[in-house]
Amino acid sequence: MAKLRSVKGMNDILPADMGRWHRVEAAFRHRAERYGYAEVRTPLLEPTELFVRGIGEVTDIVEKEMYTFEDKGGKTLTLRPEGTASCVRAWLQHSVGGQEPVTKWYYVGPMYRRERPAKGRYRQFHQVGCEIYGDPGPYVDAELIDMVVGFLRELGVLDVEVLVNSLGSGDTRERYREALVAHLEPHRATLSEDSQRRLEANPLRVLDSKAPEDQEAAATAPTLLDFLSDEDRAHFDGVQDTLTALGTPFQVAPRLVRGLDYYTRTLFEVIGRGGDLGAQSTICGGGRYDGMIGDLGGPATPAIGFAMGVERVLLSMPDEAAAAPLDVFVVAEAGVRAPATALARELREAGLRVEADLRGRSLKSQFRRADKSGAPVALVLGEREVDGGGVQLKELGKGTQTSVPRDALVASVREALG
Ligand code: HAM
Repeated sequence: MAKLRSVKGMNDILPADMGRWHRVEAAFRHRAERYGYAEVRTPLLEPTELFVRGIGEVTDIVEKEMYTFEDKGGKTLTLRPEGTASCVRAWLQHSVGGQEPVTKWYYVGPMYRRERPAKGRYRQFHQVGCEIYGDPGPYVDAELIDMVVGFLRELGVLDVEVLVNSLGSGDTRERYREALVAHLEPHRATLSEDSQRRLEANPLRVLDSKAPEDQEAAATAPTLLDFLSDEDRAHFDGVQDTLTALGTPFQVAPRLVRGLDYYTRTLFEVIGRGGDLGAQSTICGGGRYDGMIGDLGGPATPAIGFAMGVERVLLSMPDEAAAAPLDVFVVAEAGVRAPATALARELREAGLRVEADLRGRSLKSQFRRADKSGAPVALVLGEREVDGGGVQLKELGKGTQTSVPRDALVASVREALG
């Protein structure tokens, strides 16, 4: 029989790696909450139409990458490829806009895209992201970008580049579209198949095509910045001035368009230059989508957000950023396993992370496990200690051992942990 394996591009995250995952997720939650965001959780499955209308029909995600299927009732459902459309749906469905002038949400969870798997690119991957409804910017745009940079810095990801652009709004886009089609038309014959098909329907997509044959036409195309209206330009200047005031380095990238159709005005990406990232170097992408809520049937409402790939953050992070998984390892003689269980419980109730080997193995084999566990402290319990009421406290890194009275145990362990 063939061996059972996980779906290609979908990975198990094993306990050995979980310390790093928790570190990223906890740092993100703390930061988002310090900035006034509240967590939202939406279903992994949504009606397919949400993504087709939200992300845009002529995009890589909708044309090629969605996991779409019919359920037993004949409904067409899709595993969410991103979080933005789902958040807007939830915000509209629960009339949140009527209850608060500005909504700030964050989310953490898996997303699904049927892309070609590679290092940093998976079919199930995880995003942390934020969305804001009701603030037209430009200050909040810069604050959002600065928050991402601060989050990465906290995790030791220092070698990054922040790219910003503006896609304009309203008829800026229409005027630019015409100019772009006029530029691309003479190149039509040499463009990739996808780009030829998209030339009229969605010429902006030609600009973020990865196909080598599209690169020259994309690199020589006119840029959106030359088409911005006065209002759009003032908005983009506001974003840049605020970033400068915050001391956040950035570069204007006039050809940055990103692969989703909903963006207007501010657009940004954070590119990682260090770590183990390789070719999938975009750690974070985001932007403003002032038209989406209206397009999905809601009241015209400005919106902006970003999402970061957790796997890519992990690949960029230095190793030492992971926390030790355990505080204490309890080593016990076979005859005192019941009091050892009570001792471990007492420490856990006090908030410490404790593991004990309760199989009755030799002390030597328990010490071997304690050393491997990464716990800085081992507590050793034998018949003698139970009778006398004390416990041996061993600092594993230093090799020192002291006898600690039972009623001072928690305080002594905390002291040893520093
Ligand atoms: P996105 O650029 O499609 O934007 O994805 C954001 C981030 O998710 C990427 O920068 C990358 O780190 C990660 N990512 C995307 N696809 C994969 C993959 N196949 N494997 C691993 N990581 C991946 C969005 O999803 C928008 N919803 C962002 C946004 C929020 N815009 C406004 N609000």
